Amino acid sequence: MMYQDLERIVMTKDQIQEVVAKMGKEITEDYKGKELLVVGVLNGGVYITVDLSREIKLPIIMDFVGASSYGDTVVSGDLRMTKTPSIDPKGKDVLIVEDILDSGRTLKKMMEYYQELGANSVKLCVLLDKPDAHKVDVQADYVGANVGNEFIVGYGLDYAQKYRNLADIGVLKREIYE
Ligand code: IMP
Ligand code: MG
Repeated sequence: MMYQDLERIVMTKDQIQEVVAKMGKEITEDYKGKELLVVGVLNGGVYITVDLSREIKLPIIMDFVGASSYGDTVVSGDLRMTKTPSIDPKGKDVLIVEDILDSGRTLKKMMEYYQELGANSVKLCVLLDKPDAHKVDVQADYVGANVGNEFIVGYGLDYAQKYRNLADIGVLKREIYE
């Protein structure tokens, strides 16, 4: 149904589950005794945020924010948001969770914004990182896997809002978007 649009699979459902569990374990160790606020980035980050949260064996609290270049709420600098925070991060240890780190522009601004709101610490967790695509100086603290500069879909990652619900992650055939 959707798999015919993929050139190849880069990460299977089982592999995703494995790296998410591994990151959850690390985060559990690192945040023992802290007040962890997990912030998922809409819409793509929903899948990893939900799965990761169940692998963190701590009494965390969760929020979701929406960032986008066409969001109508300008919160700070030129960061536009389609959904602003519902939970005040003041004094909390914030972990921003997103599907993929690409240019890094949005995520860097998002981290700075949480710092401005008075978070005690701000870290970033991404399922996938495209190290060759970074356009600003940003680094994720927890990375599931690195990928090349290819356009991928699935497990939250979309093309024109589609393919998010694919259980596996794959490279989209060029003919689909060219
Ligand atoms: P950036 O790091 O600020 O450029 O923003 C990263 C966002 O770009 C991600 O949250 C995705 O929504 C989107 N993105 C980047 N690379 C891909 C891809 O390969 N497939 C689908 N979406 C992508
Ligand atoms: Mg996204």
